[in-house]
Amino acid sequence: EKGGYDTFMAKEIHEQPQAVADTLRGRIDEAGQIVLDEVRMSDQDFRDIDKVFIVACGTSYHAGLVTKYAIEHWTRIPCEVELASEFRYRDPVLDRSTLVVVISQSGETMDTLMALRHAKDQKARVLAISNTVGSTIPRESDAVLYTRAGIEVAVASTKAFLTQLAACYLVGLHLAQVRGIKYADEVSAILDELVAAPGKIAKVIEHLEPVREMARNSAGKDRVLFIGRHVGYPVALEGALKLKELAYLHAEGFAAGELKHGPISLIEEGTPVVAIVPSPRGRSLLHDKIISNIQEVKARGAKVIAICEEGDAITASHADFVIETPATPTLLAPLLTTVPLQEFAIELATAMGRDIDQPRNLAKSVTVE
Ligand code: F6R
Repeated sequence: EKGGYDTFMAKEIHEQPQAVADTLRGRIDEAGQIVLDEVRMSDQDFRDIDKVFIVACGTSYHAGLVTKYAIEHWTRIPCEVELASEFRYRDPVLDRSTLVVVISQSGETMDTLMALRHAKDQKARVLAISNTVGSTIPRESDAVLYTRAGIEVAVASTKAFLTQLAACYLVGLHLAQVRGIKYADEVSAILDELVAAPGKIAKVIEHLEPVREMARNSAGKDRVLFIGRHVGYPVALEGALKLKELAYLHAEGFAAGELKHGPISLIEEGTPVVAIVPSPRGRSLLHDKIISNIQEVKARGAKVIAICEEGDAITASHADFVIETPATPTLLAPLLTTVPLQEFAIELATAMGRDIDQPRNLAKSVTVE
């Protein structure tokens, strides 16, 4: 059942190209329009939306953080992302013109379900992104998009996360389309790139050996830090979460620009810092900034492992190690840059003798608040 892999998590990492292809399959019609599964909302309801909240927990929350960048850029609708366990207790401002997107692999997470019910009480529209057909969260929502990742057995989420990202991009593009597209050319170019993503994810998976080596080199360190900017920031959070869950190691993700406001004091001689580097094309300002951040941490003794676009010679000249990923638009890059971090966590945790599929203290589905 593990299909020749040592762990379900390893198997599920390798299933990601197919899983993302399954998420996209049949969702983009011949006219290039996005098709949702169950929609109890009219196009007019979608046009009336003037604010989006994304609500989720854990890894699903990280998918939400990435989606904020995409939705705001493609639709110009303000979008906030919030942890489900905090959302309802702060009395958020919601009404009929608010879209609340709830993301839940299991569809049963109690924190997320309670946030959904609160949103519905306030008359907000709720769209669910879930991997579990017929689970409670999709059933109680106004619209649903299923991620079709297939059953995920390992407690730490991998393919569920990548398929959530793919589904979230579809929702962002759907919103952009229903509302009249400001960046029509960009949206159709992005759709083409989304369709190309599974092939690129497969390429990343073929070249994971250097990641494994770096992970083994990092075993025995007190902590591992992850830094990123823009959509690389949520990827850094996800990389750190994977490592905490699997290796029981102090791992933290930071917005790279925040380092100098405090966390840089954590860096000692030899501390591994994984940097998620944006493409040097296009948003080159972001690229310049993260290079400065790499220099800052190296000056304090960090060993920098950079995840960057293939051919990025500037990053290669500054980092101690580089892992290259195929070129893709910045907003879609998390589909590729997350994968080496999953492998990093699995390999480091294995070197520390951990139980990969069943980490201590964790459950796959969290049905208590
Ligand atoms: C991390 C992980 C958890 C879940 C979180 C939400 O690897 O699996 O952080 O992402 O418990 O679960 P769902 O998506 O089922 O609501």
